Amino acid sequence: MEINLAGIRQEYTKSGLRECELPNDPLLLFSRWLQEAIDAEVNEPTAVIVGSVSAEGKPSTRTVLLKGLHDGKFIFYTNYESRKGKQLAHNPFISLSFVWHELERQVHIEGIATKVPQEESDKYFRKRPYKSRIGARISPQSQPIKSRMQLIRAFVKEAARWIGKEVERPENWGGYAVTPTRIEFWQGRPNRLHDRFLYTLNSDGKWEISRRAP
Ligand SMILES: Cc1cc2nc3c(=O)[nH]c(=O)nc-3n(C[C@H](O)[C@H](O)[C@H](O)COP(=O)(O)O)c2cc1C
Repeated sequence: MEINLAGIRQEYTKSGLRECELPNDPLLLFSRWLQEAIDAEVNEPTAVIVGSVSAEGKPSTRTVLLKGLHDGKFIFYTNYESRKGKQLAHNPFISLSFVWHELERQVHIEGIATKVPQEESDKYFRKRPYKSRIGARISPQSQPIKSRMQLIRAFVKEAARWIGKEVERPENWGGYAVTPTRIEFWQGRPNRLHDRFLYTLNSDGKWEISRRAP
């Protein structure tokens, strides 16, 4: 069956982004857009596509959830021994892409990922639901496993070990903080004449803004 993909297209008419609206600090605009995505009840407003690069220079992506925005850094949590974790240990350059289709908006961020302090990971880990904490302890994220049953057995066994105790964060699980050096805001407009504004961090630590062609 052939699907008519060429015929699927939408006009983007919801909004515009004007130069006079741009704050000096892109984090302010990002926070505003994120809040607007939450208020608009888009599906998974904090979902972000993380790009990392292997030792051989091959890129790969996956979705995670943004769990914090502190001191101008984007925070997410994962397994440090996962595929992305190993790639980031080798090469800390990272990209983050938020896409809010309902608002016809995307934000692309590039920067450097560093592990958050262990106490910060502990603090967030304690806030996770009990079963998610057990799951994080037993899942060898990104590794081959024999069956779903193997996972469930490990989960049940681990859950039994922690009854009545505070489930500890495993050492291989924690946060990354992404310090941005480049942030692009994209707002869809009619006739594919979209608004794109790029913030780049210059050597004085100041953000420079330029409009980019769509
Ligand atoms: C909506 C959504 C949210 C997700 N959130 C996370 C997350 O916060 N942390 C995480 O490690 N994986 C999360 N995942 C799973 C990842 O996309 C991915 O499968 C996993 O991290 C392993 O990726 P890797 O093998 O490339 O390291 C999420 C998936 C989806 C679809």
